[in-house]
Amino acid sequence: MTATRAEFEVFAPGRVNLIGEHTDYNDGLVMPLAIDRGLRIAVRPRGGSLAVVSSTMGGPAVEIDLARPLAAGRGDWGRYVEGVLAGFQRLGWTIPAFEAAITADLPAGGGLSSSAALEVGIATVVEELCGRRLDPVAKALLCQRAEHEFAGVPCGIMDQFAVTLARRGHALRIDCRSHAVEHVPLADDVALLVIDSGVKHALADGGYAARRRECQSAAGMLGVPTLRDVSDANAEAALRGLPDVERRRARHVLGENARVLGFAAAATRGDWQAAGRLMHESHTSLRDDFEVSCRELDLICAAVGGVAGVYGCRMTGGGFGGCAVALLERRAADEVVAAARAACSATLGHEPTMFPTTPGPAAHRT
Ligand code: GLA
Repeated sequence: MTATRAEFEVFAPGRVNLIGEHTDYNDGLVMPLAIDRGLRIAVRPRGGSLAVVSSTMGGPAVEIDLARPLAAGRGDWGRYVEGVLAGFQRLGWTIPAFEAAITADLPAGGGLSSSAALEVGIATVVEELCGRRLDPVAKALLCQRAEHEFAGVPCGIMDQFAVTLARRGHALRIDCRSHAVEHVPLADDVALLVIDSGVKHALADGGYAARRRECQSAAGMLGVPTLRDVSDANAEAALRGLPDVERRRARHVLGENARVLGFAAAATRGDWQAAGRLMHESHTSLRDDFEVSCRELDLICAAVGGVAGVYGCRMTGGGFGGCAVALLERRAADEVVAAARAACSATLGHEPTMFPTTPGPAAHRT
């Protein structure tokens, strides 16, 4: 289907996380933003009972029969679509048959939440087709459930919340326990650069789920429901009693929650040097204590972090590959980007894909 034959179009953004990594499933704090890249979904209603969805990112088009009860089980990329449609079915919504063609300027499996963009994009398509809206938090949670049950990835809520609730020009400070969302304006004096390590991650491969289990195990040993419940006052003493792996995982999560608060405070007073230092500390902690970085991301962050005009650079998202995000001085951003490019080439021996970005809006009909 070409865009001109579409009845309507939905845009669903990718996201980068500024700080607060691997904290969401520990009921902690995160600070992501929606970027200006993502998926465009051209949609038109059709006769019959099928949803027919094609994508430039995935394999062949998928067909889903909306007249039957939908259940997990398919192995292709259509599982994300089917999971979302099943969520609406469960709510009793009758979804009319439709045809959708997806184009993307987001790398799949590149750590920019292409899966959350797909889920929330399809949920937005359903809202448009049905002419009614779901509460945004319920919508994000429906999409997260689709990822858990249909894609087998035990993700937290950060990505789906960011794609559903983002606001142009703002990052979101999300409390993953209360689901409270605060929109934090990102001042005009900073710019963002995304650098793709080119290393593909697959969160379903096991490393992500293993980290989640290790955090749960640490919380269990500390006698609390989640790592969010460890009080600052006794944290150090409590962690000392844990086995090595649990201690390091817990130390990352507790430190990272504190860094989100520090980053938000620094951003509010416009102290970007301090915010950048916290990004650097976050990366170090993810590398050494949480062990979710990789050689390429470490090299990129060291190279870009050393460039004049860069406040901070860290891996973003689940890790094991994917992207890094850097915060730069907006004044002279072009020269800073050029210097970052040169630094990466010198360190890696090739030039990674990188692009400046700005905080964009949530998924919406265009
Ligand atoms: C992935 C998950 C998120 C979050 C991050 C790590 O992106 O989908 O829920 O856990 O990893 O911060």
